[in-house]
Amino acid sequence: MSGRDSNTETGRGPASTKESPMNRKTVTVFAATGVAGSACVEELLRQDVFDVQVLVRAGGQQEKSSSGLLNAHAAKQARWDDWRRRGVTVRSADVMDHASLIPALAGTDYLVSCVPLFATESQYPLIWAAKEAGVERFVPSEFGFIYDWEQFWPTDNAHRTAARQKAFIRRMIELAGLDFTIIPAGLWIEYFMAEPVGVMGDGNDTFSWSTGRDVGRIIPHVLAHPASRNAVCPVAATAYCSWNELLDVRERLLGRKVERRYLSHADWRAAYAATAEGPMKAIMGIGVAATECPPGMPLWANWNAMHLPGFRGTPLERLFPEYIEPRVKELQTVLG
Ligand SMILES: NC(=O)c1ccc[n+]([C@@H]2O[C@H](COP(=O)([O-])OP(=O)(O)OC[C@H]3O[C@@H](n4cnc5c(N)ncnc54)[C@H](OP(=O)(O)O)[C@@H]3O)[C@@H](O)[C@H]2O)c1
Repeated sequence: MSGRDSNTETGRGPASTKESPMNRKTVTVFAATGVAGSACVEELLRQDVFDVQVLVRAGGQQEKSSSGLLNAHAAKQARWDDWRRRGVTVRSADVMDHASLIPALAGTDYLVSCVPLFATESQYPLIWAAKEAGVERFVPSEFGFIYDWEQFWPTDNAHRTAARQKAFIRRMIELAGLDFTIIPAGLWIEYFMAEPVGVMGDGNDTFSWSTGRDVGRIIPHVLAHPASRNAVCPVAATAYCSWNELLDVRERLLGRKVERRYLSHADWRAAYAATAEGPMKAIMGIGVAATECPPGMPLWANWNAMHLPGFRGTPLERLFPEYIEPRVKELQTVLG
């Protein structure tokens, strides 16, 4: 299976080349306690190529997440304390107030935003403040399809609206004169495995698969690669394979059949129309978009196969029992 292209766990090659302390860039992570954000911080520490900062929201905004599951403040505090002990600079700011945000970003070279889907708009003040603070590069919270393309797909839906906003944010970054790195990551496996599994199409096309954690892990390696400057880098952080190949692995590991339904574009549109407003509606929109790609224009790719051959996604044999299966159950409690 082509997913094996990305299957051990240490990053080697350009991504792990150490800089002398004088030349080390500082990476600041926003929404660092989220799924992708926390894995990104952990990998930055393990990789030891960049100095690491996290930006803590001083408060005031509604607490949000991509899935609907929220992180408790005590758990976040424990993370910040642990990261501080391990050399991370933790800076707090009112992220809606430039007078507070600009000094908090001073000294940042690369700003990585991992805000949840439903807080995409929280990045607007960040872009202005980053420009004022002299930040070199802004990595917006993307990590899904290639939104620059999806925004123009014919069928309007809640996910296409999110795609349009993410594409707009990239334009704002360019307008501010900041460098950017865009990291599409395909489908996060844990969001699409609830049974009966709704397969996008006939299950034979190759998709990019990531988990939230592998997305976080790959970000520092993409950033450390010179080809990521002002580039769209669509990764398959965990595997690059078809739905059928992925589900076959899952069946082997579970020792039973996985209930699945093969859904055409018309089926996804009907399912979307029948779904109530909320996070699940956006997920249905992903199926609508994925099944209307013009030939030769998939919304995902495998940038890491070419540029990060040493990066390995977590092996599926470990990932399914240790992370995906429990996470699917957890997500079902909020997504239904
Ligand atoms: N392709 C896919 O299948 C897929 C699936 C899921 C997510 N994604 C994408 O991946 C990206 C990251 O998502 P994620 O699931 O890792 O995020 P997440 O875990 O839901 O992020 C939660 C964190 O966001 C921060 N946060 C909470 N409320 C906020 C607010 N109002 N404004 C700003 N930050 C807030 C908090 O961190 P702090 O308290 O530390 O700030 C919180 O711990 C998103 O762009 C999302 O669209 C893609």
